[in-house]
Amino acid sequence: MKTIDELQLVLDEEKIKSRVSEIGASITREYEDKDLVIIGILKGAFIFMADLVRKIDLPLETDFVRLQSYGSSTESAGQVTITKDVELPLRNKHVIIVEDIVDTGYTLKYLKEVMSLHQAASVKICCLIDKKERRKVDVDVDYVGFEIERGFLVGYGLDYDEQYRQLPGIYHLNPRYEAKGFMPSER
Ligand code: IMP
Ligand code: MG
Repeated sequence: MKTIDELQLVLDEEKIKSRVSEIGASITREYEDKDLVIIGILKGAFIFMADLVRKIDLPLETDFVRLQSYGSSTESAGQVTITKDVELPLRNKHVIIVEDIVDTGYTLKYLKEVMSLHQAASVKICCLIDKKERRKVDVDVDYVGFEIERGFLVGYGLDYDEQYRQLPGIYHLNPRYEAKGFMPSER
């Protein structure tokens, strides 16, 4: 377990806060008069979602899903299952899925299919971080906080082996290794 001084800051609290406000303002403009449901993906999105919903100035409902993807601790292998589905009825509702980070895209591609089975009127995706370069399957992400090319990130809900979620900013876990193209699992 590293101390905060051993991590490299990528996005500080202020930067995240102002971007979250901007996204909240866009959603507020775009969802007026629509039945809006914000669905967070556990556990990673819990902090981002908590901040985001407080910047959306509209009536809304919230729910959560939990997904499991198989693979290493740092990369999903494409096999995703749902271990906790939504509890609210979504029929004819306008859904925004809130995710911490989109990497390969497998998780969100799968979840979008699940949401269409629930007969939502529309499904959009909002993620705080988009690692676009690493995408393996196509998914449209409608609201993106920040695009970050590479590296394994922790903090603000993001974990490595369940640690670091509580950090107020976002950090590179292994700047030195990542510069050479290593991921934490290859240490
Ligand atoms: P995807 O299916 O590869 O898009 O997986 C996205 C999921 O992998 C996210 O919900 C995170 O839980 C996890 N993930 C991907 N990249 C990172 C990272 O840099 N830090 C922490 N978790 C990550
Ligand atoms: Mg996650």
